[in-house]
Amino acid sequence: MGFKEQIDISRLPKHIAVIMDGNGRWAKNQGKFRSFGHESGVVSLKDVVEGCTDIGVKYLTVYAFSTENWNRPIEEVNLLMELLISTINAEIGTLNKNNVRLNAIGDIASLPQKCIDDLKNAMDETAGNDSCTLTLALSYSSKWEIVEAARKLATLVKEGKMDVNEIDETAFSSQLTTTGIPDPELMIRTSGEHRISNYLLWQIAYGELYFTEKMWPDFMKEDLFEAIVDYQKRERRFGKISEQLN
Ligand code: FPP
Repeated sequence: MGFKEQIDISRLPKHIAVIMDGNGRWAKNQGKFRSFGHESGVVSLKDVVEGCTDIGVKYLTVYAFSTENWNRPIEEVNLLMELLISTINAEIGTLNKNNVRLNAIGDIASLPQKCIDDLKNAMDETAGNDSCTLTLALSYSSKWEIVEAARKLATLVKEGKMDVNEIDETAFSSQLTTTGIPDPELMIRTSGEHRISNYLLWQIAYGELYFTEKMWPDFMKEDLFEAIVDYQKRERRFGKISEQLN
């Protein structure tokens, strides 16, 4: 029996977050350029999005470019930006066919203008889709996002639009770039690294972490299904004891 058949559809995670790691090493292991790894990473991403729509996962958020990734050699940064532009433009039709809405989080204003324009266009073109929301984290880091939220709340207080005592978890969440999206129940990281790397730190407070040795270009929808089966075997206690559940 495949992993897909083992999934209990009534207990799917609503939101899955992914750190797509290992493109460069995957390519290097084959004596190829890192660019080949990133291009192959796009193939995996497409397959995993399809996996989400196959079974009904409502939100998928992928770490496509971190704030720290700006420190990579300029050639690789440019290549990733070009890959982003060509991929989003090429995929609008498929996203619409599969009823997938494209969304983006992060410091979008820091991206090259062509990226910003094409991203906005793709988001507008897919805005009416509601089977799955694919969020690209671009120029994103969690600490950046949390500081931004603090700044926005401070501004509201300073302008007299909010009282300090109104700052609670709900108010804070509503200032994060993920506002309106439920917190991920499952976070997957590929390539054998056991780190969160400044990704959705607030949002994964109670998220289940799943690590796999597979490099991202080798990670396909069947691997996603395997991760979901693993997640469904876990007991999520949220600080309670087993006997209190149900
Ligand atoms: C991590 O591999 C991957 C990235 C930094 C970029 C992820 C990008 C893609 C999957 C393709 C582009 C995305 C879109 C949305 C079009 P790495 O380069 O860190 O690999 P390494 O750790 O082996 O060097």
